[in-house]
Amino acid sequence: MRIYLDNNATTAIDADVLQVLEGSLRDVYGNASSIHKEGQTARRMIEDAREAVARLIGAAARDVVFTSGGTESNNAAIFGAFPPEGRFHIVTSSIEHPSVIEATRALDRRHADVTYVAPSRDGVVAASNVIDAMRDDTRLVTVMLANNETGVVQPVAEIGAATRARGVHFHVDAVQAAGKIAVDVETLQCDTLALSAHKLHAPKGIGALYVRRGTKMSSHLVGGAQERRRRAGTENVPLAAAFGAAATLSMQPHDVASVRDAFERELRAAFGAAITINGERVARLPNTSNVTFHGADGEGIVIALDLSGVAVSTGSACSSGRVEPSPVLLAMGLSPDDARATVRFSLSRFTTLAEVRRVAALLVDLVPRCRAR
Ligand SMILES: Cc1ncc(COP(=O)(O)O)c(C=O)c1O
Repeated sequence: MRIYLDNNATTAIDADVLQVLEGSLRDVYGNASSIHKEGQTARRMIEDAREAVARLIGAAARDVVFTSGGTESNNAAIFGAFPPEGRFHIVTSSIEHPSVIEATRALDRRHADVTYVAPSRDGVVAASNVIDAMRDDTRLVTVMLANNETGVVQPVAEIGAATRARGVHFHVDAVQAAGKIAVDVETLQCDTLALSAHKLHAPKGIGALYVRRGTKMSSHLVGGAQERRRRAGTENVPLAAAFGAAATLSMQPHDVASVRDAFERELRAAFGAAITINGERVARLPNTSNVTFHGADGEGIVIALDLSGVAVSTGSACSSGRVEPSPVLLAMGLSPDDARATVRFSLSRFTTLAEVRRVAALLVDLVPRCRAR
């Protein structure tokens, strides 16, 4: 049996979610905009799903727009909320997901000035640094709730209070946080917030964008009145239903942290000061362990673990055959060698103690053989 510890990349579909998906794919084929019975059945299903997703983030159902996933939600918010003309300013962080970073860079090439706020060594983007970076011409602030590589939770509510006070649009990428920690749009005081279903045991290709009522934004897809005109196109009812079911299941209590903590204790006992657990001292997602094995080759560890039946990942990107160290870890001040020596273990509610103990034992054996060249 393989051990899957790459749940921040994507998750397996929950068996109950799969049932919902299969049932709706088979039985609910009506167009949710049609007035006949088939259409109304589809409409009810998508509205129930919207309620469930809204509950996950403390929102009103009418403020939830279904999208194709986190990337679309982030793009829609950033391009939709930023003024189409004139020169204005954006504040974001240097540890955002590429779907945020690349969108702000695209605006930078057109008519925006962008400030990228760096994190601390622990991976925290200080709220005061974001607030200090705001200017009179700032029209958009976008900061993630939890980082996908380190799991570090950002002080988003504090930033939300400041943006609200100044009337600046605040977007939050909550793709990694939702389903793992409590997310509440009122506490965060955000105007828009991105979600992705495949990070919480639902299928890929569906996500949501929360848009606070009254928010002025342009639509990224036009040509239909669906999703309150915020996202045109015939709704994908089965995927939305699956997302709704997964959102409800993710709100049940799960003690993932105790399994992750046991894993880290085993690593600490075996490796001592030869490892650094990044973000260990600050608030983190309960499922994420980002570990630097000093002097080792992270890519080599990932490959060796894969051959031993374990799926994990590095934060590095392979561009033109060369392994580039993770920009997130570099922004936190890790050296390129340490960044390349880092591996991300991301657990799920299905991960067992026996599994993480097996992975820890494998690492004890593997790491000394995966030295950096
Ligand atoms: C923080 C974060 N934002 C956005 C995304 C993109 O989501 P999707 O894969 O649904 O496009 C991801 C996916 O890895 C992510 O981790």
